[in-house]
Amino acid sequence: MRFATIVGARPQFVKVAPVSKVLRQQYEELIIHTGQHYDYALSAQFFKELDIPEPDYYLECGSATHAVQTARMLIALEQVLTKERIDWVIVYGDTNSTLAGALTAAKLQIPIAHIEAGLRSFNRSMPEEINRIVTDHLSSRLFCPTETAYRQATNEGIIQGVEVVGDVTYDTLLRVQSRLDKHANVLLSRLHVSPEKYMLTTVHRAANTDDPEAMGAIAHALNRLEMPVLFPVHPRTRACLQRYNIKWKKHVQLIEPVGYVDMLALEQSAYRILTDSGGVQKEAFFLGVPCITLREETEWIETVQVGWNVLVGTRWQSILEAVALPKPPPPQSNPFGQGDAAIRIVQSWQGKEK
Ligand code: UD1
Ligand code: UDP
Repeated sequence: MRFATIVGARPQFVKVAPVSKVLRQQYEELIIHTGQHYDYALSAQFFKELDIPEPDYYLECGSATHAVQTARMLIALEQVLTKERIDWVIVYGDTNSTLAGALTAAKLQIPIAHIEAGLRSFNRSMPEEINRIVTDHLSSRLFCPTETAYRQATNEGIIQGVEVVGDVTYDTLLRVQSRLDKHANVLLSRLHVSPEKYMLTTVHRAANTDDPEAMGAIAHALNRLEMPVLFPVHPRTRACLQRYNIKWKKHVQLIEPVGYVDMLALEQSAYRILTDSGGVQKEAFFLGVPCITLREETEWIETVQVGWNVLVGTRWQSILEAVALPKPPPPQSNPFGQGDAAIRIVQSWQGKEK
């Protein structure tokens, strides 16, 4: 069997790493990179660090409005998928690369496997929610990270081909966990912070970056924190911060996006994590660091249910209140599986090739 894996954005590189490794032990795989993310720090660095095979195709679709970006991907992907003999297309998560990959494959009648299926925020103003819904409904196989995701997919009438396999980002994290302490030692001293004596924040969700009021409230809260704050800034956010002319207090360090292992090392040693990232919310849970989510809702509701994640939106008072909450008791179980999601995904093809 021959698989085409379609990826394009930072969180997808983190997800593809363990699956590609296991998949290639038994099957043939082509990796198609749409070029949605293209900066070294958001793309090539992850391929290198996570030992992901070089993409067979790099489509250079780049940044643009949703329609233009997705359209460029559709055109380029159709050319590749028409030329290659592909039995299955694999897509990950909820970006425009996911949507374009699924739509192109569906029109060419190539079956689609969606990894990280069934997630819902129930907020259709998020571009990612549209991408998830469409992709799930076009897919023949839906690999859900959690029981909640499974229920959400089946509630929408998707019955065939849906299964819970666990979360592939947990697989990836386990692969590098033994290296985190060493990275943290070097990095923390370079950034002049001590373990558990700083906060880590990331912000890149369109609803926050594109709204000067929301971004202003987040900045106000960060400026009022009584601890150093490390803020690796997504390029989308950097552009917005410049436009809004936000002034930062000295204790807030804006830094370039960091590599995956460095990011986990910064997460592991942080006192609290404040983020609107999907991936970072889960990693905070895996690493036992309380998370404060700068959104009104989350797809990773299990982290909230066990008390390790608090949804605060962008009200600065709520952000400060959440930071002051005590550390919750250790969770009794991990709703994201055992770190063997990639193996379970690949094994599930055995005996049912189409
Ligand atoms: C995308 C995903 C989002 C995901 C995020 C992960 C969609 C709709 N959104 O958002 O779900 O959480 O990736 O990081 O697919 N830019 C650069 N260099 C790059 C890439 C982007 O400077 O390598 C800048 C460009 O100004 C671009 C902006 O960032 O316009 C936004 O990039 P884009 O890929 O459109 O969306 P993200 O905000 O990154
Ligand atoms: N990440 C990283 N460096 C950074 C910020 C994030 O390596 O400077 C990693 C993070 O640890 C997680 C992934 O990128 O594994 C999440 O990507 P992002 O927040 O961009 O997207 P989302 O998960 O919200 O879709």
